[in-house]
Amino acid sequence: MSKKYLITSALPYVNGLPHLGHLVGCLLPADVYARFCREQGRDTLCICGTDEHGTPSEVGAAKENMPVEEYCKKYHDLHAQMYQGFNLSFDYFGRTSSDQNKEITYRIFHALDKNGLIEEKMTKQVYSPADGRYLPDSYVIGTCPYCGYEKAKGDQCENCTKVLDPTDLINPKSALSGSSDIQIKETKHLFLNLPKLEAELNTWIETKKGIWPDIAYSVAKKWLKEGLQERGITRDLKWGFSVPKEGFEGKVFYVWFDAPIGYIGITKQWSDEKPNERNWEDWWLNPENVIHTEFMGKDNIPFHSITFPATLRGTGEKWTEVSFLKGMNWLNFAGGKFSKSAKRGIFLDDALKEFPADYWRYWLMANAPESDDTSFTFETFAATINKDLNDVLGNFINRVTKMTVKDFGLQVPALGEITDTEKELYATLDTLIKQYTDYMENLEIRKALATLREIWVSGNNYIAKTEPWKAVKTDKARAATILNTGLNLVRLFGILSAPIMPEKAKEMVKIFGKEDVFVWPKKSAQELLQELKEGDSFTAPEVLFQKITPERKEELKLKYKEGE
Ligand code: 2FM
Ligand code: ZN
Repeated sequence: MSKKYLITSALPYVNGLPHLGHLVGCLLPADVYARFCREQGRDTLCICGTDEHGTPSEVGAAKENMPVEEYCKKYHDLHAQMYQGFNLSFDYFGRTSSDQNKEITYRIFHALDKNGLIEEKMTKQVYSPADGRYLPDSYVIGTCPYCGYEKAKGDQCENCTKVLDPTDLINPKSALSGSSDIQIKETKHLFLNLPKLEAELNTWIETKKGIWPDIAYSVAKKWLKEGLQERGITRDLKWGFSVPKEGFEGKVFYVWFDAPIGYIGITKQWSDEKPNERNWEDWWLNPENVIHTEFMGKDNIPFHSITFPATLRGTGEKWTEVSFLKGMNWLNFAGGKFSKSAKRGIFLDDALKEFPADYWRYWLMANAPESDDTSFTFETFAATINKDLNDVLGNFINRVTKMTVKDFGLQVPALGEITDTEKELYATLDTLIKQYTDYMENLEIRKALATLREIWVSGNNYIAKTEPWKAVKTDKARAATILNTGLNLVRLFGILSAPIMPEKAKEMVKIFGKEDVFVWPKKSAQELLQELKEGDSFTAPEVLFQKITPERKEELKLKYKEGE
């Protein structure tokens, strides 16, 4: 039986709108890989959705004076719209607050409880009478006892990075109301007994050494080395799945308990839409036949390499686990992390107003923060778009199609004698296409993109070497062979670029009026470059890419405050 490819992207928090950092860290690489897998003809399912529970949603809804359900629906729809704008091809974009997710969360919780992995404990929590609610640690602010920074948060001081407890703060206040009436109350909570699963997890993580990216393996290992602690899975909030256990009325599950279960719940949302055709269990209770690839930013790694696998293992059922965890570093902007509150960065709605989605998709993947953090600058953005997409790819397409139209009309000219120059091109492409395919397969994204660019360059080199504009004057049959090869290259470049730039790729193959469903090339370069035949008609393409002028670049720097 051929394997199924399950692909998940970390589920973005519903409150607040996504920026380029979210796109590059998980959503976009998940989409690129899903497109690659589909083009390989694999049974592929790509799942994403909004992560909706937790205090930030409650607080966001209160700020907008809306019931929290309505607030979540509003922002869920906005996320979905923006992702569509970027052509993210999720098979389903669901919600962690769905009934399906509640059902699976309860099923998993009951199994863990039955297996003796859930403990009750008394805990101390911060209560704010002015807000009428318990406050998560990060919602208590005050002066850091170590460095004197006055806006330190109760979980960590962002000035000196010391990890804090809200009770460490001098003059603590509620970040919501500003009230300094902060009380510490004893309240009962449920904990997942991670230490009981530690040995088993360690053995499993060891099998990922040299397979997962270094960052994913090393973060998981670091947690295990430090020793796992029991982890609270309930909270004193109103918004969330209520805890189905006596004595825990009025409490809900912690957002990080039901969020990763959301991958399963969302798959069930997908499957419930067409129950005769789809079965979520084929994907989630079928570990032998499913390859599960997860994409996420580095902050998510502990949850996906330790707590979520422990949650699934603890049930005693055979759930599908993560096979490959693609953890990504940060994309910075103007010397810092993207931040809505600091109004730093480029948010997806703005990005789409400036340039077509494929410009962003190409730059982000070519500069994916795989081994280190990367900075977005309009300088490198303009340079990449102008050089790679205009000078290399766009120029090739223009020259080949224009020359053909001028000398042969709107039909593919005849392929005559194949010379050593064509044979050289075939050999180069055979090597590069194999390399590109391997990099895509192994999710070495930057290397894949660099190879795709080399593939485009090989087309330019071929035209520069064969000089069809000269050949046409002395040997028309030779010019026909070169331009026949050139047109076949345009189509091949389209197919190979499709996972990265789906819209532009469509425009590139549409010229020949053939396929609109892409199939990954598996033949030799010689065969691939003979798919368009003499006499096949084509249409002259529009200019595919526009250069970014120095003036526009400077405008953008100012508009997005890049220099500040
Ligand atoms: O870091 C985040 O944006 C989280 N909302 C990711 C959750 S991923 C999954 F577990 F839901
Ligand atoms: Zn400090």
